[in-house]
Amino acid sequence: MNSRFLTVICLALLSLAFAGRIAMAQQPLTAQEIRGKQIYLQGASPSGKDILAYVGDTSLEVPGNVMACANCHGIAGQGKVEGGINPSNVTWEALTKPYGVNHVNGRKHPAYTSRALELAITRGLDPAGNKLLYAMPRYQMSKEDLDDLVVYMKRLGTDADPGVSENKIVIGTAFPTAGPIGELSQAARDVIAAAFAEVNAQGGVYSRQLELKSLAATGNTKLTRADVEKLIDDEKVFALTGMMLAGVEKEIVPLLAEKEVPLIGPLTLDPKVGSPLNRQIFYVLDGAAGQARAVISFLVKKPDSTKPLTIAVVHSGGELAASVVHAVKDQSQKDKLAAPQVVEYAAGTFAAAEMVTRLKQANITAVFFMGGSVELLSLMTEAANVSWFPQIFVQSGNASQTLFDAPAGFEGKVFCTFPSAPVDQTEEGIKEFRLLGEKYKLPQKHLAAQVSAYSAAKILIEALKRVGKDLSRERLVQALEGFYNYQTGLTPPITYGPNRRVGAAGAYIVMIDLKEKKFVPVSGWVSVN
Ligand code: HEC
Repeated sequence: MNSRFLTVICLALLSLAFAGRIAMAQQPLTAQEIRGKQIYLQGASPSGKDILAYVGDTSLEVPGNVMACANCHGIAGQGKVEGGINPSNVTWEALTKPYGVNHVNGRKHPAYTSRALELAITRGLDPAGNKLLYAMPRYQMSKEDLDDLVVYMKRLGTDADPGVSENKIVIGTAFPTAGPIGELSQAARDVIAAAFAEVNAQGGVYSRQLELKSLAATGNTKLTRADVEKLIDDEKVFALTGMMLAGVEKEIVPLLAEKEVPLIGPLTLDPKVGSPLNRQIFYVLDGAAGQARAVISFLVKKPDSTKPLTIAVVHSGGELAASVVHAVKDQSQKDKLAAPQVVEYAAGTFAAAEMVTRLKQANITAVFFMGGSVELLSLMTEAANVSWFPQIFVQSGNASQTLFDAPAGFEGKVFCTFPSAPVDQTEEGIKEFRLLGEKYKLPQKHLAAQVSAYSAAKILIEALKRVGKDLSRERLVQALEGFYNYQTGLTPPITYGPNRRVGAAGAYIVMIDLKEKKFVPVSGWVSVN
């Protein structure tokens, strides 16, 4: 046989295998596979028969639904490391590697068969007869349920995520229609729709058109968990972008982790980046807590006086303030500063003179103020009365004109932080954004929200392009984790990583010039890691 002929045959075989894989990915699940999928995802049987799990070396019996496979191995079966345990990749492709698998912990085994998989699930043994760690529960379920589960597991990983088809990707967003953030959220939605229309006009992403499903919050003034569940379950969205999360982070953020739906660029001042990390959510700009950390880095590098740096946080309660307090405490500890003083006041009961006495006695040199501008002005006025002039930090979201009315003694002492600044905007970025606004008749209001939403859409589109044709949620998350100094043209450069979910982590610090009544930059970009 000549070698050219061989090559042709090989190529033909390869493309057949490839076509087979694609066809497989597109095929809808059979009734049996759907039953198996429910067991995998929920740990409960559609037949209603008991599924029990035995946990740990004492074999504690628990209902299967608290030990669903997907909880540890992930919806797509890829496995996710959590709290130091390392659940295996259980996609059929990974389990049946022809030469078997060598695990990092030294365990080795040949390729799985259906029977071997049953033994792993029911007896905790791998195909070599090794005992699996007790972190992997042992299950008891009916023969039928076990069959269904095993059949479904052969589709794990090739079972396409919702919202992706040959020529379409469905992306969702949701927004309140009324209240202080209603109009702003809708402006954000409109800019995302425009960005998608532009991409679609150029042929889409890998010939797939982007379809935006936008849902108006039933509660008018804020989104609820039920709204977002509806968007995910009924509208079958692949991912979400630009959604208004301000004030409802606690409700929505865990839902996205549970459903494993990526959300790129939510609008919020309170990114939830604590552990365990919510892998699904990628924030564009930093929130209040990150900006407070940036201020501390700034202060540590450039102390105002020879006195030791002592920080106070003054706030009027709420979840956002709690995030800032936590960040300030944590960062102070990291930078080996004295523990910050935290003073909470109830809205409408601000006793400025008492507050000043208390903070002055504590030798506070820097005050992070998260409250109303009237209260802040009265604080500074009382402080000036006793000739006490600490540095004052407010965030752009809290800042107002009244800052310029601070007593003259505070010259050079009042600062405001911003999550991004005009210096980040390139000529090209501005032009692109302006043209989009003209073409799609976007409102001339709420520009900051529009810029955030547009940047979110750009990041999402770029990530979809990087993934390519073979799109899954897991691949999207991984592509985003690979972003390094990506330029949106409108924000600081965007970097994500396996443990990093804020694209532009840090802030700019600007001084308030009380004489000229203007902002003066005092820092370049202060990044926090
Ligand atoms: C509480 C977390 C947890 C749950 C729930 C869980 N697993 Fe596991 N599983 C693990 C861990 C951890 C390992 C790795 C054990 C080891 O390396 O010894 C594992 C290993 C496995 C393996 C062995 C693969 C290999 O590497 O040889 C299979 C198969 C498996 N799990 C399937 C399932 C199925 C099916 C379910 C649901 C019926 C399930 N697991 C539920 C944590 C879990």
